Amino acid sequence: MSGEDQHRAAADVAARATDGFTSQYGDPPAGRWAAPGRVNLIGEHTDYNDGYVLPFALPQQTVVAATATGGPGWTVWSEQSGERIEFGPDDVTEPGTVKGWGAYVAGTVWALRDAGFDVPGARLAIASEVPLGAGLSSSAALESAVLTALADLGGLDLPVDDRPGLAQRAENAYVGIPSGIMDQSASIRCRAGHALFLDCRSLAVEQIPFDLDSAGLAVLVVDSQAPHQHVSGEYRARRAACEAGARALGVPALRDVAGDELDAALARLDDPMIRRRVRHVVTEDQRVLDTVDLLRAGRVREIGPLLTASHVSMRDDFEITVPEVDVAVEAALSAGAYGARMTGGGFGGCVLALVDADQADNVATEVTRAYAERGFTAPRSWLALPASGAHRLP
Ligand code: GLA
Repeated sequence: MSGEDQHRAAADVAARATDGFTSQYGDPPAGRWAAPGRVNLIGEHTDYNDGYVLPFALPQQTVVAATATGGPGWTVWSEQSGERIEFGPDDVTEPGTVKGWGAYVAGTVWALRDAGFDVPGARLAIASEVPLGAGLSSSAALESAVLTALADLGGLDLPVDDRPGLAQRAENAYVGIPSGIMDQSASIRCRAGHALFLDCRSLAVEQIPFDLDSAGLAVLVVDSQAPHQHVSGEYRARRAACEAGARALGVPALRDVAGDELDAALARLDDPMIRRRVRHVVTEDQRVLDTVDLLRAGRVREIGPLLTASHVSMRDDFEITVPEVDVAVEAALSAGAYGARMTGGGFGGCVLALVDADQADNVATEVTRAYAERGFTAPRSWLALPASGAHRLP
């Protein structure tokens, strides 16, 4: 997708949310709020180890059109499912009452109320262009869009810095997925033209300029189309292995193992699987720091090898890749990408490749060719421009 196509698609999804609202509820909405999906440039499975991540927001957004009703209760229509659901205050006193896609909405209401906020009753209509199940954080985009809408509608005194944690609580405690804080932080705190350098322990952020255009570069995103299987079980297992590693090493989190202490730390671990998991996290944190240093110095092209090293580490040490993403990475590199890696939780999802802008089509074609040779479902690919985090639409 070109920049222009991306603008058109964003306008389109906002119009669909608005039209959906009007046809469901009879009046136009009081406002529209958008929150994006994300890709993670580097720093995978480091967030729940108190480490570092460097995501940027995608132009693909989820849009919530909404009006406060003045009464208790929430009515939510989703374009994607075609369903309209309702829930009241009783459904959000305990986590887990509302199921399915509605759980992300109810969970957000629950997390806000649980934190003491007086959440306004509302009607909502949701449309999204963030692909589902592609590892681009469609769930965080939904939580973040709903949270931003409700915070504005209710005039809640909720600083932006505190929002990702609440959206994450919706996902962890209400939906029941033990994810870290990266995705909601990206969806809420990213800025256009920048990558978000987040310290997942202190929650300090630095907006790192990520100017691909003036370097003649582009980030090509390839959706591997690999079916996600056993993702949440594998995610839990990785998280548990990291926690076991930290316990065995006597540190609060793997973030506390410095790069130059890694060999000594590994020598103290008996289980080879735990050793591999620890090595991934500790080296990945260092790769994030190195990437940030290069970007701060304007040396964008030089981050390529760090991206590829991250992929190798996810493939061999963290063991979260699948053949489709490995093939996409190898094909992109053979076609001249400076670096390529799987992005997101793993077991499918998307690959990103740093390429010369004028080579992007060629790299995409080569990946498609490699897929065809192996009989994989044809991948989808597009260029990702770093977009802005959650905001109210004019
Ligand atoms: C998923 C989770 C994030 C993060 C990534 C892996 O996207 O939601 O919290 O752990 O996987 O980096």
